[in-house]
Order: sequence, then C-alpha cells, then structure tokens
Amino acid sequence: MSQAPAPITVPHHVAIIMDGNGRWAKQRGLPRLEGHRRGVETVRTTTFAARDLGVKMLTLYAFSVENWKRPQDEVGGLMSLLEYYLKKELETFIRDRVRLRTIGRTDELPPGVQKVLHTTIEATRHFDDYTLVLALNYGSRTEVVDAARAYAAAVAAGHENLNDGSWATFRRYLSTADLPDPDLVIRTSGETRVSNFLLLQAAYAEFAFTPVLWPDFTKADLAAAIADYHRRERRFGLTSEQLVKPAAQ
Ligand code: FPP
Repeated sequence: MSQAPAPITVPHHVAIIMDGNGRWAKQRGLPRLEGHRRGVETVRTTTFAARDLGVKMLTLYAFSVENWKRPQDEVGGLMSLLEYYLKKELETFIRDRVRLRTIGRTDELPPGVQKVLHTTIEATRHFDDYTLVLALNYGSRTEVVDAARAYAAAVAAGHENLNDGSWATFRRYLSTADLPDPDLVIRTSGETRVSNFLLLQAAYAEFAFTPVLWPDFTKADLAAAIADYHRRERRFGLTSEQLVKPAAQ
C-alpha cells in the first residue's frame, strides 16, 4: 500500500514586495505605467492564487512612503490605478469573501482612494477566511515613529506602564497590531532588498527572491516559493533538537 505524501506546510501569511513593473514595460518599449497596469492584473490573479494554495493572509506592498518621490505623472497614474482596481474588485471581494485591510498612512492618500478604501473595508469587514492587506503609503520607519508617538501618549495618559517594556505591548501600536507576522516574504524582479517593508514583523519570516518581474509572476511561481518554504526549518532562535522535542517548561 503506498503511503500518501505528507501535506505541504503552507505559510499562513505571505507578504510580497511587487517589483519589476518598470523593467517589464521598458523591455517592451512601453511606458512605465503600462507595467503598473499589468502589475494590477497580477495583483488580481495572485490574490486568488494564494487563496487556492491555502494561504490565509496576503500582504502586498503596493505603495511605499518613498514612492511619492517618483515623477508626478507616475504617482498620479498609480493612484488612479488603485482607485480603479478597488472599484472594480469590490463585487469580486464580496462574492469571493475576501476581507480587505490596509497598513500604512492611508489618511495621506487622495480623497477618492480613501473613499473607495473605506467602502471596501467596511463591506468586507465580516469575512474571516481570507484577508488581503494592501500596504499603502507604508514604510517600517514611519510606522515605528507613529507607534512610538502613540505609545508615548498612552504612557503619558496613564494607559501604559513604561516599565512594561515588552514587545507584546509595543506591537499593539504598530499598524499591523491585529495581524499575524508574515511567515514568508517574497520579492520579485531579482532584487534582494527589504526596502523598509515589515522590518519588525518579518523578524522570523523566511525570504524568497525570484528573478521573475511582477507582471509575469504566476500561480506556479507562488507555488514554487511555498514549496521552498515547506523545505525550510523555522527555528525562532531555538536549536533543531529543541524543535523536535519541546523544551521542558
Ligand atoms: C515596483 O515596480 C512596483 C511599485 C512601485 C508599485 C506596485 C504597484 C502595482 C503592482 C500596481 C498598483 C497596485 C494595486 C494594489 C492596484 P517598479 O516600478 O519599481 O519596477 P522597476 O524596479 O522595474 O522600475
């Protein structure tokens, strides 16, 4: 009798640095915005591919705090694409029970984007099997500064005790407060940087780098990254032996 293969360990939370839209467009002699447009198609396919593969939460780095420094027409184009994408996806999110959330300083986004974000977040709030998190106007350093400020205010107001000093307390002031840490962080386009993305939250994440440009990223590429994750041993600072035999209490 043949034995069934052991089930693959699927990361609960996958986070992706979507990179390479510009190069994809340049290789084809197209404007950069065309690369972003194709990138939006990949956002759509990857959202559902991740869910099919058993992932429960997908975080996508859609716009960083540094991205405002890009040429104004590119920034404007990205904002229009975001608004268009959200309006178009609302029905699909509801039909397919996708909860939308965001991290980052979304109050600095254009009013039209904020409005459609608010509508979509409210309309999908009650779905609990699969969550898409868009990192928008996000950067870890600004997130830490915002969290430190809020934490200091809470201490001053007597709601927190400065002597507590625990990560469990401080993390509640991050924009990811009620999200689990990512298990797997993927970056496309061959770059091997973290670019101010989930620096604290990815402290124990596994990283996967692929040369594929974001517009070309497929379900098979995602499945390959997950299969690679499955082969790794996550030790969280312990030894391999401790992982096999739980440490005595
Ligand atoms: C990096 O490619 C990608 C971005 C700066 C933004 C990612 C945005 C999208 C995929 C589209 C909008 C997102 C949503 C959710 C609607 P790059 O321009 O830095 O590529 P390059 O390094 O090749 O120039």
